[in-house]
Amino acid sequence: MISRRACFRNLLQSLRTGSTASKLRSSNCFTSRTAPSLQPVVELSPDSDDEYADVDWDNLGFSLRPTDYMYITKCTGGDSFEEGHLSRYGNIELSPSAGVLNYGQGLFEGTKAYRRENGRLCLFRPDQNAIRMQVGAERMCMPSPSIHQFVEAVKQTAFANKRWQIPPPGKGSLYIRPLLMGSGPVLGLGPAPECTFLIYASPVGNYFKEGLAPLNLFIDDEYHRATRGGAGGVKTITNYSPVLKALTRAKSRGFSDVLYLDSVYKKNIEEVSSCNVFIVKDNVISTPATGGTILEGVTRKSIIDIALDHGYQVKEQCIPVEEVMEADEVFCTGTAVGVAAVGSITYQGKRVEYKMGDQCVSQELFSTYMEIQKGDIEDKKGWILEID
Ligand code: COI
Repeated sequence: MISRRACFRNLLQSLRTGSTASKLRSSNCFTSRTAPSLQPVVELSPDSDDEYADVDWDNLGFSLRPTDYMYITKCTGGDSFEEGHLSRYGNIELSPSAGVLNYGQGLFEGTKAYRRENGRLCLFRPDQNAIRMQVGAERMCMPSPSIHQFVEAVKQTAFANKRWQIPPPGKGSLYIRPLLMGSGPVLGLGPAPECTFLIYASPVGNYFKEGLAPLNLFIDDEYHRATRGGAGGVKTITNYSPVLKALTRAKSRGFSDVLYLDSVYKKNIEEVSSCNVFIVKDNVISTPATGGTILEGVTRKSIIDIALDHGYQVKEQCIPVEEVMEADEVFCTGTAVGVAAVGSITYQGKRVEYKMGDQCVSQELFSTYMEIQKGDIEDKKGWILEID
């Protein structure tokens, strides 16, 4: 009988030499729906820690650096996805009439894997991304992977690409991008007959080119990100390209990103192109209430919980733009962005500057968020998933 160690070596070998999906399936080492955990695989990789990818973590930013493997599975009829598998990272084949290409039937997620100083690989609340994908899939008329399958697939992708996860402390992480898309052909408008769930990964540094410097936001009252009854509350791909016009215009004028207003009254702040937003006034923290037009950010939710634990009053409510212009502090949260202080906001030609620095509320909350991730504070909420 082939030993588990040999099995893992064969698998890695076949992945490196461009093995096909069927080879991977027959290897029986990575099984998505039945494997309870990746623990056995970790035990079988004694030499793999010697191999570190060559990444210039200081200059990485947030741009694609393809890694070795991706995960893929399909659902063709019915509600459940086939057993997924890892394959080499690469292009995928799609029908020209795929639902995602023609009608934007697609969702994405973002989560990060990172390595603690003790060498352990960790994920932060991937179950929350799984739940959000399920909610989004229902809105976009797609079947979704179970929470177990989603989390196992993220673990497999993170683990298979673990040589990309050795950033010097605080310099970066492995960004993991799950996609769910209508991959089957459609011509008339309707849900695609086949859906694909795919996960790829890329090492990343800071999202904004400013690095950790405060952001300068522009409030756009011409373009909106989401509309009532639309899909702004879920992470559909169709929420992102419509903001490119406002975003590129703002960037060309030297701003970091755009803060959008609600599309009905054009007076309440909603969200930034790539992240949620919070304001602080007299030590009370407020963020726009989710109600269909605001994305339920995992970082947003985590920061609210940390703020409540720290004794702050947190309000999820409508925030008129005038209140933003009078706030003490403004900050953004998101998986890609982390927690980013806002230095200034410009609205209708008026620029307002905000408090920044170590004494800020955002810095206090961010420090706790990072300490939980790094293991410096006990993870009492069960947010961290160690994968090796
Ligand atoms: C994330 O924070 O993970 C996102 O999906 C935002 C994206 C614009 C990078």
